[in-house]
Amino acid sequence: MDHSKLILKPGLEGIPVTQSSICDIDGKKGKLLYRGYEIGELAQKSSFLETAFLLIWGELPSSSELRDFEAEVQMHRRLSFRVRDMMKCFPESGHPMDALQSSAASLGLFYSRRAIDDPKYVYNAVIRLIAKIPTMIAAFQLIRKGHDPIQPRDDLTYSANFLYMLTEKEQDPLAAKVFDKCLILHAEHSLNASTFSARVTASTLTDPYAVVASAVGTLAGPLHGGANEDVIAMLESINKPENVSSFIENSLRDKRKIMGFGHREYRVKDPRAIILQQLAEELFDRFGKDEMYDVAKRLEKEAIPKLGAKGIYPNVDFYSGLVYRKLGIPRDLFTPIFAISRVAGWLAHWREQLGANRIFRPSQIYTGSEPRKWTPLEQR
Ligand code: CMC
Repeated sequence: MDHSKLILKPGLEGIPVTQSSICDIDGKKGKLLYRGYEIGELAQKSSFLETAFLLIWGELPSSSELRDFEAEVQMHRRLSFRVRDMMKCFPESGHPMDALQSSAASLGLFYSRRAIDDPKYVYNAVIRLIAKIPTMIAAFQLIRKGHDPIQPRDDLTYSANFLYMLTEKEQDPLAAKVFDKCLILHAEHSLNASTFSARVTASTLTDPYAVVASAVGTLAGPLHGGANEDVIAMLESINKPENVSSFIENSLRDKRKIMGFGHREYRVKDPRAIILQQLAEELFDRFGKDEMYDVAKRLEKEAIPKLGAKGIYPNVDFYSGLVYRKLGIPRDLFTPIFAISRVAGWLAHWREQLGANRIFRPSQIYTGSEPRKWTPLEQR
Protein backbone atom coordinates (compact mmCIF):
# COMPACT_ATOMS: atom_id res chain seq x y z
CA MET A 1 0.00 0.00 0.00
CA ASP A 2 1.26 3.50 -0.87
CA HIS A 3 1.71 5.48 2.38
CA SER A 4 3.54 8.41 0.86
CA LYS A 5 0.55 10.79 1.09
CA LEU A 6 -0.28 9.97 4.72
CA ILE A 7 0.93 12.39 7.37
CA LEU A 8 1.38 10.97 10.84
CA LYS A 9 0.24 13.09 13.80
CA PRO A 10 1.21 11.22 16.97
CA GLY A 11 -1.43 11.69 19.65
CA LEU A 12 -3.73 13.18 16.96
CA GLU A 13 -2.67 16.64 18.16
CA GLY A 14 -4.63 19.31 16.33
CA ILE A 15 -6.63 16.79 14.25
CA PRO A 16 -10.41 17.23 14.56
CA VAL A 17 -12.11 13.84 14.63
CA THR A 18 -15.66 15.00 15.25
CA GLN A 19 -17.91 18.02 15.56
CA SER A 20 -19.21 18.71 19.05
CA SER A 21 -21.43 21.27 20.75
CA ILE A 22 -20.72 20.12 24.31
CA CYS A 23 -17.61 21.90 25.50
CA ASP A 24 -15.35 24.68 24.30
CA ILE A 25 -11.82 25.39 25.51
CA ASP A 26 -9.75 28.47 24.81
CA GLY A 27 -6.33 27.26 25.88
CA LYS A 28 -4.62 30.61 25.37
CA LYS A 29 -7.07 32.57 27.51
CA GLY A 30 -7.71 29.77 30.00
CA LYS A 31 -11.44 29.60 29.28
CA LEU A 32 -13.64 26.52 29.62
CA LEU A 33 -17.33 26.48 28.72
CA TYR A 34 -19.91 23.70 29.03
CA ARG A 35 -22.69 24.22 26.47
CA GLY A 36 -21.73 27.91 26.39
CA TYR A 37 -21.68 28.45 30.17
CA GLU A 38 -18.40 29.43 31.82
CA ILE A 39 -16.97 26.92 34.24
CA GLY A 40 -16.51 29.55 36.98
CA GLU A 41 -20.19 30.47 36.85
CA LEU A 42 -21.29 26.83 36.89
CA ALA A 43 -19.02 26.05 39.85
CA GLN A 44 -20.48 28.99 41.71
CA LYS A 45 -24.17 28.66 40.87
CA SER A 46 -24.95 25.14 39.69
CA SER A 47 -24.97 21.68 41.27
CA PHE A 48 -23.32 18.61 39.79
CA LEU A 49 -26.62 17.00 38.83
CA GLU A 50 -27.85 20.19 37.17
CA THR A 51 -24.55 20.47 35.27
CA ALA A 52 -24.78 16.81 34.26
CA PHE A 53 -28.29 17.44 32.91
CA LEU A 54 -27.02 20.46 30.99
CA LEU A 55 -24.15 18.50 29.47
CA ILE A 56 -26.19 15.44 28.53
CA TRP A 57 -29.41 17.04 27.30
CA GLY A 58 -27.93 20.31 26.03
CA GLU A 59 -29.94 22.87 28.04
CA LEU A 60 -30.28 23.84 31.69
CA PRO A 61 -33.23 21.96 33.22
CA SER A 62 -36.44 23.68 34.30
CA SER A 63 -37.16 23.31 38.01
CA SER A 64 -39.52 20.37 37.41
CA GLU A 65 -37.03 18.67 35.07
CA LEU A 66 -34.29 19.05 37.67
CA ARG A 67 -36.57 17.75 40.43
CA ASP A 68 -37.44 14.68 38.35
CA PHE A 69 -33.82 14.07 37.36
CA GLU A 70 -32.64 14.31 40.98
CA ALA A 71 -35.46 12.03 42.14
CA GLU A 72 -34.68 9.41 39.46
CA VAL A 73 -30.98 9.45 40.29
CA GLN A 74 -31.82 9.10 43.97
CA MET A 75 -34.08 6.14 43.25
CA HIS A 76 -31.39 4.29 41.29
CA ARG A 77 -28.47 4.77 43.69
CA ARG A 78 -28.81 1.30 45.16
CA LEU A 79 -26.84 -1.65 43.76
CA SER A 80 -28.24 -5.08 43.17
CA PHE A 81 -27.02 -7.57 45.79
CA ARG A 82 -25.44 -9.47 42.88
CA VAL A 83 -23.21 -6.50 42.02
CA ARG A 84 -22.28 -6.07 45.69
CA ASP A 85 -21.51 -9.79 46.00
CA MET A 86 -19.45 -9.70 42.83
CA MET A 87 -17.46 -6.79 44.27
CA LYS A 88 -16.84 -8.78 47.45
CA CYS A 89 -14.91 -11.27 45.30
CA PHE A 90 -12.55 -8.59 43.98
CA PRO A 91 -9.07 -8.67 45.58
CA GLU A 92 -8.78 -6.05 48.34
CA SER A 93 -5.39 -5.06 46.98
CA GLY A 94 -6.84 -4.25 43.54
CA HIS A 95 -6.97 -0.66 42.36
CA PRO A 96 -10.44 0.89 42.81
CA MET A 97 -10.37 2.02 39.16
CA ASP A 98 -10.18 -1.62 38.11
CA ALA A 99 -13.02 -2.43 40.50
CA LEU A 100 -15.05 0.42 39.03
CA GLN A 101 -14.33 -0.58 35.45
CA SER A 102 -15.46 -4.16 36.10
CA SER A 103 -18.56 -3.10 38.06
CA ALA A 104 -19.61 -0.51 35.48
CA ALA A 105 -19.21 -3.08 32.70
CA SER A 106 -21.26 -5.59 34.71
CA LEU A 107 -24.31 -3.31 34.49
CA GLY A 108 -24.51 -4.37 30.84
CA LEU A 109 -25.37 -7.86 32.10
CA PHE A 110 -28.27 -6.58 34.18
CA TYR A 111 -29.68 -4.10 31.65
CA SER A 112 -28.83 -6.01 28.53
CA ARG A 113 -31.49 -4.73 26.14
CA ARG A 114 -29.21 -2.78 23.80
CA ALA A 115 -31.99 -0.47 22.61
CA ILE A 116 -29.87 2.58 22.01
CA ASP A 117 -32.42 4.14 19.67
CA ASP A 118 -35.14 4.00 22.36
CA PRO A 119 -35.19 7.34 24.25
CA LYS A 120 -36.46 5.62 27.41
CA TYR A 121 -33.55 3.16 27.37
CA VAL A 122 -31.11 6.05 26.85
CA TYR A 123 -32.63 8.07 29.71
CA ASN A 124 -32.57 5.08 32.07
CA ALA A 125 -28.96 4.25 31.19
CA VAL A 126 -27.94 7.85 31.92
CA ILE A 127 -29.74 7.76 35.28
CA ARG A 128 -28.32 4.38 36.28
CA LEU A 129 -24.73 5.25 35.45
CA ILE A 130 -24.82 8.61 37.22
CA ALA A 131 -26.62 7.09 40.21
CA LYS A 132 -24.66 3.86 40.65
CA ILE A 133 -21.03 4.82 40.02
CA PRO A 134 -20.64 6.64 43.38
CA THR A 135 -22.30 3.71 45.16
CA MET A 136 -19.88 1.28 43.50
CA ILE A 137 -16.84 3.28 44.58
CA ALA A 138 -18.08 3.63 48.16
CA ALA A 139 -18.99 -0.07 48.26
CA PHE A 140 -15.51 -1.14 47.15
CA GLN A 141 -13.93 1.14 49.74
CA LEU A 142 -15.96 -0.44 52.57
CA ILE A 143 -15.60 -3.99 51.27
CA ARG A 144 -11.81 -3.72 51.13
CA LYS A 145 -11.86 -2.52 54.75
CA GLY A 146 -13.78 -5.67 55.64
CA HIS A 147 -17.11 -3.86 56.12
CA ASP A 148 -20.43 -4.39 54.42
CA PRO A 149 -21.36 -1.58 51.98
CA ILE A 150 -23.96 0.75 53.43
CA GLN A 151 -27.16 1.81 51.72
CA PRO A 152 -27.53 5.31 50.26
CA ARG A 153 -29.52 7.81 52.34
CA ASP A 154 -32.44 9.42 50.57
CA ASP A 155 -32.39 12.52 52.77
CA LEU A 156 -28.90 13.45 51.56
CA THR A 157 -27.93 15.22 48.37
CA TYR A 158 -25.90 13.42 45.70
CA SER A 159 -22.53 14.61 47.03
CA ALA A 160 -23.40 14.46 50.74
CA ASN A 161 -24.66 10.92 50.25
CA PHE A 162 -21.47 9.81 48.49
CA LEU A 163 -19.29 11.15 51.32
CA TYR A 164 -21.61 9.45 53.81
CA MET A 165 -21.46 6.08 52.01
CA LEU A 166 -17.69 6.36 51.73
CA THR A 167 -16.88 7.38 55.29
CA GLU A 168 -19.89 5.83 57.09
CA LYS A 169 -20.71 9.19 58.65
CA GLU A 170 -22.47 12.35 57.61
CA GLN A 171 -19.93 15.02 56.73
CA ASP A 172 -19.89 18.76 57.34
CA PRO A 173 -22.08 20.56 54.72
CA LEU A 174 -18.98 22.49 53.57
CA ALA A 175 -17.32 19.20 52.62
CA ALA A 176 -20.33 18.17 50.52
CA LYS A 177 -20.51 21.62 48.92
CA VAL A 178 -16.83 21.60 47.96
CA PHE A 179 -17.05 18.02 46.72
CA ASP A 180 -20.03 18.88 44.51
CA LYS A 181 -18.07 21.78 42.98
CA CYS A 182 -15.17 19.41 42.28
CA LEU A 183 -17.60 17.19 40.38
CA ILE A 184 -18.75 20.17 38.29
CA LEU A 185 -15.15 21.10 37.48
CA HIS A 186 -14.24 17.61 36.26
CA ALA A 187 -17.47 16.79 34.41
CA GLU A 188 -16.37 17.51 30.85
CA HIS A 189 -13.31 18.50 28.88
CA SER A 190 -13.91 17.91 25.16
CA LEU A 191 -11.92 15.17 23.47
CA ASN A 192 -9.59 14.11 26.26
CA ALA A 193 -8.33 10.52 26.03
CA SER A 194 -11.17 8.89 28.01
CA THR A 195 -13.88 10.80 26.16
CA PHE A 196 -12.31 9.90 22.83
CA SER A 197 -12.24 6.32 24.01
CA ALA A 198 -15.94 6.59 24.95
CA ARG A 199 -16.77 7.95 21.49
CA VAL A 200 -14.79 5.24 19.72
CA THR A 201 -16.62 2.58 21.74
CA ALA A 202 -19.97 4.34 21.21
CA SER A 203 -19.37 4.43 17.46
CA THR A 204 -19.63 0.63 17.34
CA LEU A 205 -23.21 0.97 18.69
CA THR A 206 -22.43 -1.15 21.73
CA ASP A 207 -24.23 -0.57 25.03
CA PRO A 208 -23.60 2.52 27.20
CA TYR A 209 -22.17 0.43 30.06
CA ALA A 210 -19.40 -0.78 27.73
CA VAL A 211 -18.88 2.84 26.61
CA VAL A 212 -18.39 3.98 30.20
CA ALA A 213 -16.27 0.95 31.14
CA SER A 214 -13.86 1.64 28.29
CA ALA A 215 -13.66 5.30 29.29
CA VAL A 216 -12.95 4.34 32.92
CA GLY A 217 -10.08 2.14 31.77
CA THR A 218 -8.62 5.02 29.78
CA LEU A 219 -9.04 7.53 32.58
CA ALA A 220 -7.01 5.31 34.90
CA GLY A 221 -3.65 6.02 33.26
CA PRO A 222 -1.09 8.32 34.94
CA LEU A 223 -0.98 10.73 32.00
CA HIS A 224 -4.73 11.30 32.33
CA GLY A 225 -6.89 10.98 35.46
CA GLY A 226 -4.25 9.08 37.40
CA ALA A 227 -2.04 12.19 37.64
CA ASN A 228 -3.84 13.53 40.74
CA GLU A 229 -2.59 10.57 42.80
CA ASP A 230 0.92 11.12 41.51
CA VAL A 231 0.82 14.81 42.45
CA ILE A 232 0.32 13.95 46.13
CA ALA A 233 3.06 11.30 45.94
CA MET A 234 5.35 13.90 44.34
CA LEU A 235 4.56 16.58 46.97
CA GLU A 236 5.20 14.06 49.75
CA SER A 237 8.50 13.05 48.18
CA ILE A 238 9.55 16.72 48.03
CA ASN A 239 8.44 16.93 51.66
CA LYS A 240 9.43 20.56 52.44
CA PRO A 241 9.28 23.85 50.52
CA GLU A 242 13.09 24.13 50.89
CA ASN A 243 13.48 21.02 48.71
CA VAL A 244 11.48 22.40 45.80
CA SER A 245 14.35 24.07 43.88
CA SER A 246 16.49 20.94 43.77
CA PHE A 247 13.45 18.81 42.87
CA ILE A 248 12.70 21.01 39.85
CA GLU A 249 16.34 21.12 38.84
CA ASN A 250 16.70 17.32 39.04
CA SER A 251 13.40 16.67 37.25
CA LEU A 252 14.27 18.92 34.34
CA ARG A 253 17.81 17.57 34.13
CA ASP A 254 16.52 13.96 34.08
CA LYS A 255 13.63 14.87 31.74
CA ARG A 256 11.06 13.79 34.34
CA LYS A 257 7.70 15.48 34.12
CA ILE A 258 6.37 17.49 37.01
CA MET A 259 3.03 15.89 37.76
CA GLY A 260 0.01 18.17 37.65
CA PHE A 261 1.76 20.45 35.16
CA GLY A 262 1.16 20.72 31.43
CA HIS A 263 -1.87 20.22 29.26
CA ARG A 264 -2.39 19.59 25.57
CA GLU A 265 -5.04 22.33 25.43
CA TYR A 266 -3.94 25.04 27.88
CA ARG A 267 -1.01 27.41 27.51
CA VAL A 268 -1.89 29.19 30.77
CA LYS A 269 -2.96 27.99 34.23
CA ASP A 270 -5.93 25.69 33.88
CA PRO A 271 -9.08 27.61 34.97
CA ARG A 272 -10.13 24.58 37.00
CA ALA A 273 -6.84 24.65 38.91
CA ILE A 274 -7.56 28.26 39.89
CA ILE A 275 -10.96 27.30 41.33
CA LEU A 276 -9.64 24.12 42.97
CA GLN A 277 -6.93 26.13 44.70
CA GLN A 278 -9.63 28.45 46.10
CA LEU A 279 -11.66 25.45 47.24
CA ALA A 280 -8.58 23.96 48.92
CA GLU A 281 -8.05 27.23 50.77
CA GLU A 282 -11.71 27.29 51.84
CA LEU A 283 -11.27 23.81 53.34
CA PHE A 284 -7.94 24.70 54.97
CA ASP A 285 -9.54 27.78 56.61
CA ARG A 286 -12.24 25.59 58.16
CA PHE A 287 -10.47 22.30 58.85
CA GLY A 288 -6.79 23.26 59.10
CA LYS A 289 -4.04 23.49 56.52
CA ASP A 290 -2.39 20.58 54.72
CA GLU A 291 1.35 21.10 55.04
CA MET A 292 1.85 19.90 51.47
CA TYR A 293 0.00 23.04 50.32
CA ASP A 294 3.11 25.12 51.04
CA VAL A 295 5.16 22.69 48.97
CA ALA A 296 2.63 22.92 46.11
CA LYS A 297 2.57 26.73 46.14
CA ARG A 298 6.36 26.93 46.15
CA LEU A 299 6.52 24.38 43.33
CA GLU A 300 4.09 26.40 41.24
CA LYS A 301 6.03 29.62 41.92
CA GLU A 302 9.41 28.15 41.02
CA ALA A 303 8.35 25.92 38.11
CA ILE A 304 6.49 28.59 36.14
CA PRO A 305 9.58 30.69 35.32
CA LYS A 306 11.23 27.52 34.00
CA LEU A 307 8.28 25.94 32.15
CA GLY A 308 5.88 28.82 31.47
CA ALA A 309 7.64 29.78 28.23
CA LYS A 310 6.62 26.35 26.86
CA GLY A 311 3.04 26.97 28.01
CA ILE A 312 3.34 24.52 30.89
CA TYR A 313 1.34 25.55 33.96
CA PRO A 314 -0.61 23.76 36.71
CA ASN A 315 -3.45 21.65 35.37
CA VAL A 316 -6.67 20.43 37.01
CA ASP A 317 -4.81 17.69 38.89
CA PHE A 318 -2.35 19.95 40.64
CA TYR A 319 -4.65 21.05 43.48
CA SER A 320 -7.49 18.50 43.28
CA GLY A 321 -5.58 15.89 45.31
CA LEU A 322 -5.06 18.37 48.15
CA VAL A 323 -8.81 19.06 48.19
CA TYR A 324 -9.70 15.36 48.24
CA ARG A 325 -7.13 14.64 50.91
CA LYS A 326 -8.64 17.32 53.15
CA LEU A 327 -12.02 15.69 52.59
CA GLY A 328 -10.53 12.49 54.02
CA ILE A 329 -10.61 10.61 50.72
CA PRO A 330 -7.94 7.92 50.27
CA ARG A 331 -5.46 8.65 47.52
CA ASP A 332 -6.33 5.73 45.27
CA LEU A 333 -9.94 6.96 45.14
CA PHE A 334 -9.01 10.29 43.55
CA THR A 335 -9.28 8.92 40.02
CA PRO A 336 -12.51 6.98 40.65
CA ILE A 337 -13.94 10.28 41.91
CA PHE A 338 -12.88 11.88 38.65
CA ALA A 339 -14.99 9.14 36.98
CA ILE A 340 -18.08 9.98 39.11
CA SER A 341 -17.94 13.38 37.53
CA ARG A 342 -16.64 12.67 34.02
CA VAL A 343 -19.38 10.11 33.40
CA ALA A 344 -21.59 13.13 32.68
CA GLY A 345 -19.27 14.20 29.85
CA TRP A 346 -18.90 10.66 28.55
CA LEU A 347 -22.67 10.25 28.39
CA ALA A 348 -23.08 13.60 26.64
CA HIS A 349 -20.54 12.46 24.03
CA TRP A 350 -22.22 9.04 23.78
CA ARG A 351 -25.51 10.71 22.87
CA GLU A 352 -23.84 13.12 20.50
CA GLN A 353 -21.93 10.31 18.78
CA LEU A 354 -25.11 8.30 18.27
CA GLY A 355 -26.80 11.40 16.82
CA ALA A 356 -24.41 11.44 13.82
CA ASN A 357 -22.59 8.16 13.99
CA ARG A 358 -19.88 6.83 11.78
CA ILE A 359 -17.66 4.11 13.17
CA PHE A 360 -14.12 5.28 14.01
CA ARG A 361 -11.62 3.50 11.85
CA PRO A 362 -8.44 5.59 11.40
CA SER A 363 -5.61 4.58 9.13
CA GLN A 364 -1.97 3.85 9.94
CA ILE A 365 1.43 4.05 8.36
CA TYR A 366 2.74 0.52 8.14
CA THR A 367 6.40 0.14 9.16
CA GLY A 368 6.64 -3.68 9.25
CA SER A 369 8.25 -6.23 7.01
CA GLU A 370 7.83 -6.49 3.24
CA PRO A 371 5.79 -9.55 2.17
CA ARG A 372 7.92 -12.63 2.91
CA LYS A 373 7.91 -16.38 2.58
CA TRP A 374 6.80 -18.66 5.39
CA THR A 375 9.71 -20.53 7.07
CA PRO A 376 8.81 -24.00 8.32
CA LEU A 377 9.30 -24.45 12.08
CA GLU A 378 12.23 -26.90 11.74
CA GLN A 379 14.19 -24.36 9.64
CA ARG A 380 13.87 -21.42 12.10
N1 CMC B 1 6.83 18.79 33.40
C1 CMC B 1 7.92 19.11 32.66
N2 CMC B 1 7.91 19.23 31.32
C2 CMC B 1 6.75 19.01 30.70
C3 CMC B 1 5.58 18.66 31.38
C4 CMC B 1 5.66 18.56 32.78
N3 CMC B 1 4.60 18.22 33.49
N4 CMC B 1 4.57 18.49 30.50
C5 CMC B 1 5.10 18.70 29.30
N5 CMC B 1 6.42 19.01 29.41
C6 CMC B 1 7.33 19.32 28.29
C7 CMC B 1 7.79 18.02 27.63
O1 CMC B 1 8.93 17.51 28.23
C8 CMC B 1 8.00 18.52 26.22
O2 CMC B 1 9.20 19.23 26.19
P1 CMC B 1 10.15 19.19 24.90
O3 CMC B 1 9.33 19.78 23.79
O4 CMC B 1 11.30 20.03 25.29
O5 CMC B 1 10.48 17.75 24.69
C9 CMC B 1 6.88 19.53 26.00
O6 CMC B 1 6.61 20.03 27.31
C10 CMC B 1 5.61 18.95 25.40
O7 CMC B 1 5.22 17.83 26.23
P2 CMC B 1 4.37 16.62 25.71
O8 CMC B 1 4.44 15.51 26.70
O9 CMC B 1 4.73 16.32 24.28
O10 CMC B 1 2.92 17.28 25.74
P3 CMC B 1 1.57 16.53 25.52
O11 CMC B 1 0.61 17.55 25.07
O12 CMC B 1 1.77 15.30 24.70
O13 CMC B 1 1.22 16.00 27.00
C11 CMC B 1 0.49 15.94 29.22
C12 CMC B 1 0.34 16.64 27.86
C13 CMC B 1 -0.61 16.39 30.15
C14 CMC B 1 0.35 14.41 29.03
C15 CMC B 1 1.87 16.28 29.79
O14 CMC B 1 1.96 17.67 30.01
C16 CMC B 1 2.18 15.51 31.07
O15 CMC B 1 2.61 14.36 30.98
N6 CMC B 1 1.96 16.14 32.27
C17 CMC B 1 2.19 15.47 33.52
C18 CMC B 1 1.03 14.51 33.80
C19 CMC B 1 -0.24 15.25 34.19
O16 CMC B 1 -0.24 16.17 34.99
N7 CMC B 1 -1.36 14.80 33.59
C20 CMC B 1 -2.68 15.37 33.85
C21 CMC B 1 -3.23 16.04 32.64
S1 CMC B 1 -4.63 17.08 32.95
C22 CMC B 1 -5.91 16.06 33.37
C23 CMC B 1 -6.26 15.00 32.43
O17 CMC B 1 -6.21 15.14 31.20
O18 CMC B 1 -6.62 13.94 32.94
